[in-house]
Amino acid sequence: MTNANISIDEQALQSAIQTFTSLTCRLSSDGLYLDISNSKASASLSMFGAHLCSFIANKDGRERLWISDSAMFDASTPIRGGVPICWPWFGANNKINDAPSHGFVRNQMWRLNQAKEVKDENGEVVETHCYLKPTSLGMFSTPATLNLTLMLKVSTYCEITLITENQSSQRVEVSQAIHSYFAIEDINQVVINGLHGTYYNKLDNTHNNVSPSLYTIKQETDRVHQRAVKSVTDERISLSDGDKNIINILHSGHNSTVVWNPWIEKSAKMKDMSEGGYKTMLCIEAATEPREALLPGQKLVLTQKFD
Ligand code: BG6
Repeated sequence: MTNANISIDEQALQSAIQTFTSLTCRLSSDGLYLDISNSKASASLSMFGAHLCSFIANKDGRERLWISDSAMFDASTPIRGGVPICWPWFGANNKINDAPSHGFVRNQMWRLNQAKEVKDENGEVVETHCYLKPTSLGMFSTPATLNLTLMLKVSTYCEITLITENQSSQRVEVSQAIHSYFAIEDINQVVINGLHGTYYNKLDNTHNNVSPSLYTIKQETDRVHQRAVKSVTDERISLSDGDKNIINILHSGHNSTVVWNPWIEKSAKMKDMSEGGYKTMLCIEAATEPREALLPGQKLVLTQKFD
């Protein structure tokens, strides 16, 4: 990103937040950030990738998101940690030459399109809503076929929604994920509650593996828990390492939940994972994987909410 681009992005962000007391624009050596601070929580979103990097609920002051000590903030590499937005494909895409892993919106600048504040009777902001759009939809730009909006709500909880609308006259297929890296104290102690049924194991390409009744992580893990029927109802999951550190997660509009931890050997091969980083993170991702077809005029609405 050139300095000229930064200033255009910064100017656009400054003007979009002018009337909102809970929003601040911050330019640091790591990039351009939208900081959110209201009476319930604070959060920080990098405009590069609309990538949420921090969410701290005021009720306990605990950071819910993990960022790698070796994350690269070079405005071209997706940030390792926080909440990458994977769209319009999840993982690899063999149909396109040199397709970036997890799509092309997590490594481009986004714009804040709209915001809204909800106040209580004392005038305190209790909810901040931000609506963001990527600056380019790549192959979906001309003719305009898909429309993507990310909605972020910051309150006692954090809620991220991806809305994909098919504006074309053709059927379009999309896979995606809200790829959250949750901060945990110790991977060896963590238990995932609420994930049942079977999963596809990406590591050995096996299907129909049964979810463990006591779901712990003791090795490299890369699993897609597919829902038998596409969920219209919410799915509640929680992560706990000990009684003191619980994260509640709610998914809706997904057809799968992904669980990922690279463990020791894979981490060593990744330039943006520091040694031992895998011990304090666990990805729980709301996903549309495998991909789903959107008919003309149809919408896909994928949500992850956590606190
Ligand atoms: C997970 C995938 O969602 O993301 C893994 O299931 C992948 O297979 C991981 O390794 C990290 O992907 P990336 O592109 O951010 O290194």
